[in-house]
Amino acid sequence: MGGRGESTEFDRLAEELQRQILEQERAVYSAKVLEEAHNPKNVGRMPQPDAWAIVHGWCGDTMEIYLRLDGDKIERATFMTDGCGSTVACGSVLTQMVQGRSLEEANQIQPDDLIAALGGLPEESVHCAELTVNTLREAIARARARREVRSEELGGR
Ligand code: FES
Repeated sequence: MGGRGESTEFDRLAEELQRQILEQERAVYSAKVLEEAHNPKNVGRMPQPDAWAIVHGWCGDTMEIYLRLDGDKIERATFMTDGCGSTVACGSVLTQMVQGRSLEEANQIQPDDLIAALGGLPEESVHCAELTVNTLREAIARARARREVRSEELGGR
């Protein structure tokens, strides 16, 4: 009968497998990418954001970014993705980077800045950073468009 011995053996195998996976991940990804991918910050769709965007990457994955504004400043940013671990790390770090910055400052962030903040990304994951930054830019463009409509409405009164 399956007793303790079997489950201990299973646990040992599972542990070994996990150790091997971690070792492989460490060989490819920086410590920062692994930390952010395994413990991402600012995950989730924001209820009633001031602006948001969803962008589909050529890899088939999507990134969503939500912004809460205080005037011209990004007070809070969250993200949601069905993409790979790199994309989760990108969303986590980029949303942390933009909080407290103006829309203009956030719009200046380049994929290379994000990659540098992540301690590097393997070549095949560079597009994940591009997807994340493009999504942020789309959300910022929408925030600005919304603001223009509002000021036109106010000016029209
Ligand atoms: Fe598609 Fe990373 S976003 S592989």
